[in-house]
Amino acid sequence: MGKYVKHARRVYLLLVAVTTLVLSITTAERVNNSDTGGLYWSTAKDDGNFSGKPEGEESTATLNELDEYDGGFSSLDGMLQWAIGHSDPAKLKEKAEDVQNQSPDELKRRQMEIKDLVEKLRTPSDAQLMRTAIDDLNNSSLPIDDHYRALQELLILVEPIDNANDLHKLGGLSVTIKFLSNSNTELRTMSAWILGKASQNNPVIQKQILELGGLIKLMEMVKSSLPEEAIKALYAVSALIRNNELGRESFYAEAGVSLLQDILGNSSIDIRLRRKSVFLVADLVESQIESENKVELPFFSNHSFLKSVVDLMSSNDLDLQEKALVAIKNLLRLSTTEALVLKDLCGLDDALKRMKEELQQLMSDEIISDYAEDIERLRTEVEIIFHQKLVKVRKC
Ligand SMILES: *[C@@H]1O[C@H](CO)[C@@H](O)[C@H](O)[C@H]1NC(C)=O
Ligand SMILES: *[C@@H]1O[C@H](CO)[C@@H](O)[C@H](O)[C@H]1NC(C)=O
Ligand SMILES: *[C@@H]1O[C@H](CO)[C@@H](O)[C@H](O)[C@H]1NC(C)=O
Ligand SMILES: *[C@@H]1O[C@H](CO)[C@@H](O)[C@H](O)[C@H]1NC(C)=O
Ligand SMILES: *[C@@H]1O[C@H](CO)[C@@H](O)[C@H](O)[C@H]1NC(C)=O
Repeated sequence: MGKYVKHARRVYLLLVAVTTLVLSITTAERVNNSDTGGLYWSTAKDDGNFSGKPEGEESTATLNELDEYDGGFSSLDGMLQWAIGHSDPAKLKEKAEDVQNQSPDELKRRQMEIKDLVEKLRTPSDAQLMRTAIDDLNNSSLPIDDHYRALQELLILVEPIDNANDLHKLGGLSVTIKFLSNSNTELRTMSAWILGKASQNNPVIQKQILELGGLIKLMEMVKSSLPEEAIKALYAVSALIRNNELGRESFYAEAGVSLLQDILGNSSIDIRLRRKSVFLVADLVESQIESENKVELPFFSNHSFLKSVVDLMSSNDLDLQEKALVAIKNLLRLSTTEALVLKDLCGLDDALKRMKEELQQLMSDEIISDYAEDIERLRTEVEIIFHQKLVKVRKC
């Protein structure tokens, strides 16, 4: 049983109590005035147990129905509606006696009590779910399936930034990083995915993962021969070093650009991984241009590296070509990039010409003409920047 369902059950039990309470209050006045009205009073304390497993026949009966429901509620309102719809009229009648003995004030007080409980249950619930998932991950006697499920849950739970920020406090980051070394590829892949998602635009998590040594482990995984694993690892690496200078420094120190070059230069590697790699190159160069700290990064002027980026322009994947153009455009803005190297050693001139011809043809194809036009605009821009840079060299 998924943790979400368990959680939904707990919330459900509470809601049954709330719903019946609301029904009680609205009908209590009627009861006081007449003898009709089937209603009952059910307290959280008597019929439900919010910290433990549900107990009591009522709970069991309604929970079996929830089993069939087999899904999550998209909102508290949805749950409330559902709870109202599933109140048992027979039971309501049976308990009518009880509620008649409660004064409106008493009912009101208990309503407040339950309201507080709902709030308490709602706020920490994600933290509780994370705690459970982390405990399961940390329990090595559990089977792979349970670990996989726990990771799946964490993947969803880390999405809200507050949850992500709790992850390390709960011990979740260390455990997830440990799973990067698991013998099961799916568990490794899922762990990388979680780390990537948690660190996206989150400097706090980025720092924590870097300090725990997660980056180096993930960079190793990028070399995996299993495409899904390599892709998720590179996704995590990118998320970890984006807008993070310390992260980039570690990446460079671990020969990160060489790692990317190996991917760019190998046409038998999965195309998605190659797209992500060249995209990351463009991103890194852009950060370098914007960086206050203008240390020279020699690998960006490495001839064989530049050539492997230019060569992507001859790929038969339009998306890859486009991303390569963006990377070249950024590289041209770096003062350390030599226009003559790009021309003479990398054949950028020829590559731009060939691409132009190819795009002209594609522009007559209705289906992709718009896309081809966009890329042609970008290509023209790159061509202009390139020639300006060449002219400057000649003037020297
Ligand atoms: C509620 O659950 C706890 C722990 O699971 C248990 O100790 C306690 O007896 C339960 N209370 C009731 C009213 O069922
Ligand atoms: C680990 O899981 C096993 C099997 O479910 C369980 O019996 C054990 O109590 C768990 N250990 C911890 C430390 O939670
Ligand atoms: C994982 O379990 C070990 C003991 O096996 C414990 O020392 C550690 O604190 C646990 N970590 C988390 C995050 O629960
Ligand atoms: C730079 O060039 C050498 C070979 O000339 C190569 O081994 C190295 O990986 C290159 N790339 C980077 C990014 O340093
Ligand atoms: C290129 O990638 C393939 C598939 O991952 C790999 O088997 C091969 O060794 C790589 N070639 C080089 C030269 O690294």
